[in-house]
Amino acid sequence: MSDAGSILIVNNITAGYGEGAMVADASFTLASGEILCLVGESGCGKSTLLKAVMGTAPGLQVLSGELVLDGQSLLPLPEKERRLLCTEKIGLVSQSPGASFNPIRTYRKQFIETLKSHGKYDRPAFETMVAEAFGKMGLSDTRRILDSCPYEMSGGMNQRIALSLALLLEQEILLADEPTSALDATIQLQVAKELLRLRDVSGMAQVVVTHNLALAQFLADRIGVMYAGRLVELGTPAQVLSEPRHAYTRALIAAIPTLDGRLPTGLDGAPPLSGPSGAGCEFAPRCPVRRAGCAEKRYSLTNIGGGHLTACSCGSEGAS
Ligand SMILES: Nc1ncnc2c1ncn2[C@@H]1O[C@H](COP(=O)(O)OP(=O)(O)O)[C@@H](O)[C@H]1O
Ligand SMILES: [Mg+2]
Repeated sequence: MSDAGSILIVNNITAGYGEGAMVADASFTLASGEILCLVGESGCGKSTLLKAVMGTAPGLQVLSGELVLDGQSLLPLPEKERRLLCTEKIGLVSQSPGASFNPIRTYRKQFIETLKSHGKYDRPAFETMVAEAFGKMGLSDTRRILDSCPYEMSGGMNQRIALSLALLLEQEILLADEPTSALDATIQLQVAKELLRLRDVSGMAQVVVTHNLALAQFLADRIGVMYAGRLVELGTPAQVLSEPRHAYTRALIAAIPTLDGRLPTGLDGAPPLSGPSGAGCEFAPRCPVRRAGCAEKRYSLTNIGGGHLTACSCGSEGAS
């Protein structure tokens, strides 16, 4: 893994809510202007991983590993200092609508407060700037929205409003947790284009969680596939989506509905609720190509060439 020039280094992070780990040994790096998409079924630890990086989720503890933000190692820092540093440099748009905001205070107050705390509040230009950001997210009627409270808005509206604030803050890193899941296809595309623009214009590095593999292909410089709290495959969209080497990635791709009327291949069962636990491959019980030994032995994430990493015995065979 090349760390040179990385704005964020996530090294072997194991994190959980008290009773055991929900994310184990997660490692990735993020360069300025790079977009990493995280995919995987619900419950695989995508949100937990983002929250572990941000360090602001109550009850979530990083049990081991290393986080380096802009050259600064975060975990040895006192809690308050870490929080300050993260909120200064990283924007987190949460998955749960409204979690990014206080539900009973107007957006206007919260936007002003947040912009002020980042030294980006410009009173005369405020409404024009917000209107511009809202417009990019497909929102109109700026004044009415600003004078509403988050509890009055739908999930999709809240997400777009949170993303608009992220546009205005222009932090170094954006962690966006399923930012388009509540949006219809055309708005989804508009939001995705805006994320790309942010990357291109501001060099903002992003980790975007999505269930939509087509969106990940469009957005990502690299895609990370998570299963049961572990990263099981990592690479460019071409590597992961066109030459998937992990049986789970193949199963995810085969489950995508298409417009040609063919029924996608389903994937029976669900990820384990207990997170990463056993000594073997967590996907083995559901794996259509499981081999003798897969349930007992876990293959570590291995570079099989060109920065394409897989943790599957099928895909990593013969890797150096
Ligand atoms: N606040 C919490 N307290 C305890 N367990 C949690 C909490 N949030 C998530 N989990 C558990 O952590 C695991 C991973 O969840 P999550 O990170 O939300 O997955 P994803 O975002 O991939 O759907 C799940 O088993 C979930 O039940
Ligand atoms: Mg989630």
